[in-house]
Amino acid sequence: MHPLPSEITPAGVYAKRRLYLQSGLALALGSAMGPAHAATGSAARPVLKGQPSALPGASTMERATSWADATAYNNFYEFSTDKDEPARRAQVLEGRAWTVRVEGLVNKPMDIGLEELLRLSPLEERIYRLRCVEGWSMVIPWVGYSLSRLIDKVQPLGSAKYLEFTSLADPQLMPGVRSRVLDWPYVEGLRMDEARHPLTLLTLGMYGQVLPGQNGAPVRVVVPWKYGFKSAKSLVRIRFVEQQPVSAWGRAAPGEYGFYSNVNPEVDHPRWSQATERRIGEGGLFAPRRKTLMFNGYADQVAQMYAGMDLKKFF
Ligand code: MTE
Repeated sequence: MHPLPSEITPAGVYAKRRLYLQSGLALALGSAMGPAHAATGSAARPVLKGQPSALPGASTMERATSWADATAYNNFYEFSTDKDEPARRAQVLEGRAWTVRVEGLVNKPMDIGLEELLRLSPLEERIYRLRCVEGWSMVIPWVGYSLSRLIDKVQPLGSAKYLEFTSLADPQLMPGVRSRVLDWPYVEGLRMDEARHPLTLLTLGMYGQVLPGQNGAPVRVVVPWKYGFKSAKSLVRIRFVEQQPVSAWGRAAPGEYGFYSNVNPEVDHPRWSQATERRIGEGGLFAPRRKTLMFNGYADQVAQMYAGMDLKKFF
């Protein structure tokens, strides 16, 4: 929450970036999706801009990780367990027709297509820290809107206590799905209040562009106060359920990956400490590690949801 001066994006750069984002406030689908902006240095990819979020805590002032790092070092086991392979293989997810089935304990189950998702709510830019359970972190400017907008649209029943998220598992497109590294599909879950929390982002883009395949195209969630694995990529289904869902990681190693998985420097992973982290892009393995922050620095916004809970037990 209190970055060192050296961690803060120089004010001029920041102001310019804001200006760039504001000048592109074309939220109607037709104009929001145009040719890629040359300044990003990435291959042609549709632009997807959002207004800077007005939500308290939604945008850290820490320097964003470079596009190159954020798109070259990825966990996406449906493609590979290697960090650099998703960047080579996951483009198959880009530019495809896509539908997310939203079902279960809701009044209005629906299949919602990508264009409708893009139109559902004004897009925002949120600059979130992402802390991976493996001990590294990034800072990424995401584009999307609060998942609560979609939740409101389908009108959950009173009996709906949790949301279960399912990622695509297509062995034709995703070579990792043919391996037994996880019991596919990739499934994750959130408690209803976590899913409705305004910081929980239904994410359609990053760095002012549509999501690259390796980061979970075309739609994923990002839950910034939890370890990165809670933020399931390339969603095909969101199901409202009464019982706490069993996640793919929880099934694979229940002692290591709890349902909550809130970032917590005081609760170690059974095989390693969670007290510090390495910021990707900061001088490699020999750069000084940073102290990991409670709830990844979002405690002011989210801690009250866990008041009275033993966070060692509910890890
Ligand atoms: N979602 C799916 N479907 N498959 C995965 O392997 N990896 C998770 C999460 N979501 C993963 C996933 C993990 S461990 C992390 S740290 C983040 O995605 C990484 O997101 P990023 O590549 O956009 O930084």
